[in-house]
Amino acid sequence: MHFPALRYALVGAGGISSVHLRAIATQPGVTLVGIADPAAPELWRVPAEFAAAPRFHDEQELLRETKPDLVSICTPNVFHHQLTLLALRHGASVMCEKPMATTVAQAEEMEAVRAAAGKLGGINFSYRNVGSFRFARDLVAAGELGRLTRVNVVYLQSFLGARMTLHSWRNDLAIAGFGALGDLGVHMIDAVRFITDLDYRRVVGVAQTQIREKPDATGRLQPVTTDTNAAFLAELSGGVIGTFETTQIAPGYGNYFRVELSGEHGTLAVHSDQPDEIWLRAGATMTAYATWKTDLPLQKVPTDFLARGAPPTPGAIVSALRGESVSYPTFADGVHAQRVLGAIAASMTNGAWQTLPSL
Ligand SMILES: NC(=O)c1ccc[n+]([C@@H]2O[C@H](COP(=O)([O-])OP(=O)(O)OC[C@H]3O[C@@H](n4cnc5c(N)ncnc54)[C@H](O)[C@@H]3O)[C@@H](O)[C@H]2O)c1
Repeated sequence: MHFPALRYALVGAGGISSVHLRAIATQPGVTLVGIADPAAPELWRVPAEFAAAPRFHDEQELLRETKPDLVSICTPNVFHHQLTLLALRHGASVMCEKPMATTVAQAEEMEAVRAAAGKLGGINFSYRNVGSFRFARDLVAAGELGRLTRVNVVYLQSFLGARMTLHSWRNDLAIAGFGALGDLGVHMIDAVRFITDLDYRRVVGVAQTQIREKPDATGRLQPVTTDTNAAFLAELSGGVIGTFETTQIAPGYGNYFRVELSGEHGTLAVHSDQPDEIWLRAGATMTAYATWKTDLPLQKVPTDFLARGAPPTPGAIVSALRGESVSYPTFADGVHAQRVLGAIAASMTNGAWQTLPSL
């Protein structure tokens, strides 16, 4: 099979870069033309199999010299906006990390410039890849739960509470834009919309910084200016109430993301630690699945379901660029999530519910 040639570049050679490189640069017809990062090369975290790619310390030079068709933006959050605009100006489509930006205005500008340029834009909402999350979406869409009545989501980590965790850009409001709320909360916001197809009507939230300083690499204490704990309520389409909690300092939790939904006919729960399992309590209408019991039993996601369809992010943008009909999280999805984040942040300053515009 012939695959049209696609020139691919990546900006930001840190922890998440390997996910983009393995999903995109390994596809047939894709050539990795360069990687840019201002950090010293020994700090780059590019997997060995991509180490031979041309290296740049300046993204302008990368774009000018390599003329990529597609660029992954894998830098700290505050740079997503300017780097996306730069890549679009150089004629590339963009796969950007989450959260899309640090403000709603930035995210909206990224989408407007993308649309005007006629390029594609994706956001790496990676939990859309999780088998159980995708299966939950299918069950909800098939009406198996009936009309949804409640949503409960937690996303819990502990890393920031660990004594040895050093201060990083993630703890600096000016670079990260948010703490747990933006880093983890944005996944919660998108995952609920992905699984339920419900949209956010109004939100109200609260956040705290419970760890106020962390040592940097020299041992000097630096302030943590981001939230370490956040919670919010959302009223979703149809009046469904969603409750959400996230933290970076809950001992015992590594990276635990759980979504639970109830509808008129049943309840389901999925979580990130066991991505091929789903907890299901069937009502009378869920007869298609004879093994379902009445007590939220644990089920395996059917293997034929898991085998169907490639994960949508970040790799599917390559298929989209080749004109295939494929669903993946787009800049429009990023803007949706950013508006919800922005409204939650606004509610934290004025203490009142924030109504979102109809989207
Ligand atoms: N989708 C997910 O599940 C997921 C998971 C982890 C991280 N992320 C996101 O990925 C992004 C990066 O996170 P990370 O964990 O890889 O961070 P990281 O600190 O490991 O790496 C960031 C890299 O970007 C480089 N960088 C900084 N400024 C730059 C600039 N102007 N141009 C080019 N490179 C620059 C740094 O030198 C560093 O190498 C963040 O937006 C984060 O939210 C998403």
